[in-house]
Amino acid sequence: MSITFDKDSNIFQLNTKTTSYLIGIADGKYVGHIYYGKKLNNCQGGYALLRTEEKPFVPSQNEREKAAFADTFPYEYSTHGIGDYRESCLSVRTAQGYRACEPVFKSYRIFDGKPHLPGLPATFARDGDWAQTLEIICEDACIGLQAILRYSVFADADAIIRSVELINSGTEPLYLEKALSACIDLDDESFEMLTLTGSWARERHMTRCPVTFGKHAASSIRGCSSHQEHPFMALMTPGTTQDMGEVYAMHFVYSGNFLALCQKSQYDSVRMVMGIHPEDFEWKLESGESFQTPEVVCVYSDQGLGKMSRTLHDLYRGHLIRSPYLHKKRPVLINNWEATYFDFNTDKLVEIAKDAKEAGIEMLVMDDGWFGHRNLDNSSLGDWTVNEEKLPGGLPALVKQVKEEGLSFGIWFEPEMVSPDSDLYREHPDWAIQIPGRTPTQSRAQYVLDLSRPEVVDYVYESVANILRSADISYVKWDMNRQFTDLGSAKLPPERQGELAHRYILGVYELQERLVTEFPDLLLENCASGGGRFDPGMLYYSPQIWCSDDTDAVERLAIQEGTALLYPLSCMGAHVSDCPNHIVGRNTPFETRGHVALDGTFGYELDITKLTAEEKEKIKKQIELYHRYDHLVREGAYYRIASWQENHLYDCWEVAAKDQSEAVVTYVQVLAGAGMRSRKLRLRGLDEGALYRLEGTEKVYGGQMLMYGGVLAEAQEGDYVSRVMHFVRV
Ligand code: GLA
Repeated sequence: MSITFDKDSNIFQLNTKTTSYLIGIADGKYVGHIYYGKKLNNCQGGYALLRTEEKPFVPSQNEREKAAFADTFPYEYSTHGIGDYRESCLSVRTAQGYRACEPVFKSYRIFDGKPHLPGLPATFARDGDWAQTLEIICEDACIGLQAILRYSVFADADAIIRSVELINSGTEPLYLEKALSACIDLDDESFEMLTLTGSWARERHMTRCPVTFGKHAASSIRGCSSHQEHPFMALMTPGTTQDMGEVYAMHFVYSGNFLALCQKSQYDSVRMVMGIHPEDFEWKLESGESFQTPEVVCVYSDQGLGKMSRTLHDLYRGHLIRSPYLHKKRPVLINNWEATYFDFNTDKLVEIAKDAKEAGIEMLVMDDGWFGHRNLDNSSLGDWTVNEEKLPGGLPALVKQVKEEGLSFGIWFEPEMVSPDSDLYREHPDWAIQIPGRTPTQSRAQYVLDLSRPEVVDYVYESVANILRSADISYVKWDMNRQFTDLGSAKLPPERQGELAHRYILGVYELQERLVTEFPDLLLENCASGGGRFDPGMLYYSPQIWCSDDTDAVERLAIQEGTALLYPLSCMGAHVSDCPNHIVGRNTPFETRGHVALDGTFGYELDITKLTAEEKEKIKKQIELYHRYDHLVREGAYYRIASWQENHLYDCWEVAAKDQSEAVVTYVQVLAGAGMRSRKLRLRGLDEGALYRLEGTEKVYGGQMLMYGGVLAEAQEGDYVSRVMHFVRV
């Protein structure tokens, strides 16, 4: 793992554990991409891949065809207006209204460590971790703009982290109209593109399609990373599976509007870019000011999607999630949302707590409806005062009673919002994002607060913090239930209105930073109408995120498969809920709901007081399983064995201990099918030479047999049935 510059060949070489990334400087000016792939011992001969010996040649030899050079050169950071007609990363308008920009190589710096990005979530080196950073400093002297291209590597992670800092080095203001974070130019290999797509209650389904000529994008202009598309894109060689094929992936450490785009251009090259979406974005840079883009995580895998997933999981566990809960067992919680919706009071909550305690549940989370006069979703957001009609004596009294029952206590907030029917809105209508003279669009009867304003951030922070200071609260579910419209801030000057969406996200980050600083032991779970803001940015603040409002065990298979493609299982908020399922109306066995929820943080979302004694016994058994497997789910290596999305019959995943001493396998027979039959499940990540006992039986299997032959999951009667198998090295 190292970053070096070879002066003779003019090449920067970035090495991670198993990959190399090469950058060359052509003509002394142009920073170009040479190679990303399997690790190379040296960069000998690589410079030719910049194709500077081919026509149209570099501009110093052939100025008259500079445009042809610009339109074919594999730029590390593409810019608009100088002849590269492919997707650009950077577009800048000068005070005079001109729009061309060409930052060229000036100098570089290689140093140990990884800089913190002010105000932004970012991967980091923990104390004692080795990391190294390359800065390539480029300048456009004509408009006075410096672009610092940053690349970092960690000793133990197979990823390259990229971001860009843009500095106005001139005397007049500049306007950034587009400032993406990363670009990679590859030669076409008949790539397929993989993205995660969906909707509310159907988040992060894996979608593949061939990369044909033209542009393919995943994006959000909704103000959050969104349910619909995900700040992730991978290019894969055709037919890539879990174990085979080459994968080039980008994942954005950001929670707002984003653009991920790939483009196959006239000469079959494929460019992939990622960054803040240029729509609804413009940033004014005064002389001397700088703009930092959020970072993009780049991963190359030569062993299919599985290796990419495990690389990202390790990176996020090792270098992104900061919470003290990262390696700790999370409390098994029960949330009252699907149990009561808005219809609850202290007595009801305490009743739930009592039964929950008996079943082995450890925390009660009070969801929406405890503040202002909120008895439906049409009022009171912004008025964070306890509704004493529901909760006499306020939170101190309620928390005391819940704790007396032996449970810790958690609470729901939606801090970024305001209801038109609220004291806050009546007092400060201008605190809502809206455009003067235009009736603002409501969504779930609410508006978004203008978090670009420091006084609004302060108000929101104090509202949340005051509640947390008032009682012994161990957990917060931070929700965000509507997307942006009517982008207008009463405070920003006209030429800065384009900054609102990004400033808003910076406000969210500031709020959560303040929260985890003042309450370091708080377990924070992010949420946005389910999984509408499930992204690496939020993971920097909260170790877990609610995956989806769809808690149906079968729907969750696809949602959790897509989520686990990128995120460690310990991040995925997953609960057992009631049947028929409140979203899709399906009935699934209680056991299956438990097995699927065990794939994530684990908890309950139902009225336990209404369950039968038999069901309560089942909860006890599920909680036993949770305690038995939690360390594996949280720390192990994840392998996707079969996908119901692909085979339409069954689903299977495995988590193996990193030391190969044990593995837990979950198998769901979604549809028994007409020709009901047992399935051979070929496991991964075991010690070939070891023997493993299937827990609860006397059966012993060779590691090789489990991996190459497989273990038989016998057919069971009926649909939606599941089982968990635990193999322990003997
Ligand atoms: C969102 C969340 C739910 C619940 C409701 C409360 O939809 O995703 O889990 O908290 O809000 O209004």
